[in-house]
Amino acid sequence: MKRLVCVSNRISLPRRGATPGGLAVGVLAALRHTGGVWFGWSGETSEVPAEQPEVLTRGNIRFATIDLKPADFDAYYNGYCNGTLWPLFHYFPDRFTHEQRQYEAYQAVNAEFARQLMKILKPGDAVWVHDYQLIPLGRYLRKLRFDGPIGFFLHIPFPHVQILRLLPNYAELIRDMCQYDLVGFQTADDMRSFLTCLEPAPASLPASQRIEFAGRSVRLGAYPIGIDVDGVINAAVTTYAQETVQRMAVSLMGRKLIIGVDRLDYTKGLTERFAAYEQFLEAFPENQGKVTFLQIAPPSRSDVLAYGEIRRGLEQCAGRLNGRFAEADWTPIRYLNRDYTHATLMGFLRAAKVALVTPVRDGMNLVAKEFVAAQDPEDPGVLILSPMAGAAQELRSALQVNPYDKRGMAMALQAALNMPLDERRQRHDDMLAAVRQHDIHNWYGTFVHDLTGESVRRAAA
Ligand code: F6P
Repeated sequence: MKRLVCVSNRISLPRRGATPGGLAVGVLAALRHTGGVWFGWSGETSEVPAEQPEVLTRGNIRFATIDLKPADFDAYYNGYCNGTLWPLFHYFPDRFTHEQRQYEAYQAVNAEFARQLMKILKPGDAVWVHDYQLIPLGRYLRKLRFDGPIGFFLHIPFPHVQILRLLPNYAELIRDMCQYDLVGFQTADDMRSFLTCLEPAPASLPASQRIEFAGRSVRLGAYPIGIDVDGVINAAVTTYAQETVQRMAVSLMGRKLIIGVDRLDYTKGLTERFAAYEQFLEAFPENQGKVTFLQIAPPSRSDVLAYGEIRRGLEQCAGRLNGRFAEADWTPIRYLNRDYTHATLMGFLRAAKVALVTPVRDGMNLVAKEFVAAQDPEDPGVLILSPMAGAAQELRSALQVNPYDKRGMAMALQAALNMPLDERRQRHDDMLAAVRQHDIHNWYGTFVHDLTGESVRRAAA
């Protein structure tokens, strides 16, 4: 089998303790299975980056990283990636800004990634590029004469052309995506949106799953990312019994736990969620003193203006809500800007009766799938899920509710907290089957197969 080389902006280095996000969990699972290389940014900036990538080997994976110059990193990551592409791809045109200087830094960092990666690539390698930070990378690798297969997977939504064309350089981004041999999206909807950006736009994807663009043939597909189902079940069962989760469970004093776990981001619908919870306590006052809402929201991208704003806004909402409803022995919302290990989070999810996964736009949202797997199948909790999360395409038996509909959200919370056991079990069985069908092994297995034509085989550790 070809050696798999995964590339992403942020990588999950073994020496770092932070909880990896969906991308990192997925890439790690793929590489643990096949062995190979994970290349990306070190997480550090330096005025004089080393001339060679730093390489660290753990088991069957080589982690290769480069530093970036502070000014390049700022314009590329805070600027173009998270001030331009992120809001636009998540349908937030009012939060998007465009500066040519930042676009140039985005191109320059991608060119540098390609230059450094070429030092590691060998004939016969297959390269799998991840996410919106690295769209032009494939073109730069081709320019440097890498001739192996190159695939690209977009972890976030892809917008319809009516949104994307707000971006002055959008045609260049589309051209760059067409430099890959295989382009994968989270959902069929994302893939259809991509088709709307082509000129001329095909009405649907041909049976061959290929499109021709500027003399190139590109394969497209939907590859919904999943989770390691048994890994999550084991982690949830184990950590549920351990001190951190048990101390939290005891502190509830018999109250039902409603949980949300999200990176602190305006796409996650947290402001709307807090407002809906307030409406729920108002409309169904019998729940006052009987439920606790735990929202875990580790801060991210704090140097981007919009993230500071959302953080301040949420602090105010949580403070106002607690000020309004709290009793001397009850805090309605526990709002935590901190991170836990992935295993501990799985234990928290198991302890919850209801999960609120209500982003206003999300590529997939693995917390929805993790919540399902973490539940006790004999007495499962209820998932309240936004139709704007990619996961809603698969988790049809969740209580689906529009995150902007405060009244609908309040009613869904009331229904979830009072749902009979039989119905909870039925919904949970359906959702667990869906989570198993598109698990993490299915995700990387089908993508790598479609990229290389080879089935993935487990490599020796
Ligand atoms: O999935 C979207 C994504 O931006 C990934 O590319 C990234 O690894 C993760 O979210 C966390 O974001 P960041 O690296 O900006 O903290």
